[in-house]
Amino acid sequence: MLTNDVLAQWDRENLFHPSTHLAQHARGESAARIVTGGKGVFIEDRDGNRLLDAFAGLYCVNVGYGRPEIAEAIAAQAKELAYYHAYAGHGTEASITLAKMVLERAPEGMSKVYFGLGGSDANETNVKLVWYYNNILGRPEKKKIISRWRGYHGSGLVTGSLTGLKLFHDKFDLPVERVVHTEAPYYYQRPDSAMSEADFVAHCVDALESLIAKEGADTIAAFIGEPVLGTGGIVPPPAGYWAAIKKVLKKHDILLIVDEVVTGFGRLGSMFGSDHYDIAPDFITIAKGLTSAYAPLSGSIVGDKVWKVLEQGTDENGPIGHGWTYSAHPIGAAAGIANLKLIDTLGLVTNAKDTGAYLNKAMKDALGGHANVGEVRGEGMLCAVELTADRDARTPFDPARKIGPAIAAALLRRGVIARAMPQGDIIGFAPPLCLTTSEADQIVDTIAKAVGEVLG
Ligand SMILES: Cc1ncc(COP(=O)(O)O)c(C=O)c1O
Repeated sequence: MLTNDVLAQWDRENLFHPSTHLAQHARGESAARIVTGGKGVFIEDRDGNRLLDAFAGLYCVNVGYGRPEIAEAIAAQAKELAYYHAYAGHGTEASITLAKMVLERAPEGMSKVYFGLGGSDANETNVKLVWYYNNILGRPEKKKIISRWRGYHGSGLVTGSLTGLKLFHDKFDLPVERVVHTEAPYYYQRPDSAMSEADFVAHCVDALESLIAKEGADTIAAFIGEPVLGTGGIVPPPAGYWAAIKKVLKKHDILLIVDEVVTGFGRLGSMFGSDHYDIAPDFITIAKGLTSAYAPLSGSIVGDKVWKVLEQGTDENGPIGHGWTYSAHPIGAAAGIANLKLIDTLGLVTNAKDTGAYLNKAMKDALGGHANVGEVRGEGMLCAVELTADRDARTPFDPARKIGPAIAAALLRRGVIARAMPQGDIIGFAPPLCLTTSEADQIVDTIAKAVGEVLG
């Protein structure tokens, strides 16, 4: 067996890690971790550490680690048929069955699911289909996509543009043309603390209407948003936000892409965030929770209205010129089937609701009164603690102090993995949906100690 030193050296010399300080890593300055196993909400590394993963990997291992049911389904599929493509009407029992299972769980009005590999490529598919749709309808100018600042929709060319975070744009020459951004539904960061939630929703609607007026409604094809902002800070929307936004989109004939890569399959305590907030999308993006990351698989669920136009398009123009070699990969599909069955048999959507509520309440009780905690917020099995230098003025800390990363590091030293969110001093929690109340207690006790260590 290779020693840790040898592996760490090979890692520094050969592996290009995503979202990593490349120079520090190559110099061996960052603490790299080599993960070897996992069970339930815990992972283990090669140094013998056992850590409670309160972010479920990248909020994706929803059923928890080490589920033999999914591993066995993957092995059985690999033995029987590891691969066949889905082009020109070909299918496998696994991909056809999973499509049916997804549609049975999806909100009303959804028609078909196109399977990809990750959330980014699924959103690329959505944008291409939106453009195709308007070309078929004879509206070639109606192509721009509105996203929100702080939204996260991937890191490809178009999807990195849709993402509304500085780190993903700067030095990459993004956003590309045809992508514009509007206000984030981030009530805590409202411009005036006297604003009620209803005032703030009206403010977001005004910002959206002004953007549409400035660009011209006949140039705007779609709006994309996550039901709850994820990587942008884990921010549930203010009451009434989605109903108000939907009205504006309908008025201007703008399609709605709901990105449920994080929220799909139970994280909010409902099967889909679109049902949770009654959003009625034209497209839904799914990934992570579709297979709980046991195999790479994503999907674009296409609604009835768009599907009809796609069919019309192929009658007029021939087969749709879109597809990946690995679309509807049978191994991913087999993992998805076993995963969705487990979510049902273990009652994980209900657990996300109940234990998620327990976690959020315990977090508020433990930290809500701390002088440097501006807000504790969450929904279902999502929770965030936002730190502030001055509670009343909602002043952020100087970013150079790196308060968020310091707290995440203090948590890690105590055996709990949380995520310092990339923009702002926000500690995010998105544990596997199988979390128990005693594991929730462990998370809360640990962050209380970590905040105490860093901020007193
Ligand atoms: C809401 C959302 N959409 C899209 C993506 C991109 O997914 P992937 O990293 O699988 O490309 C993510 C990833 O975190 C996400 O959170």
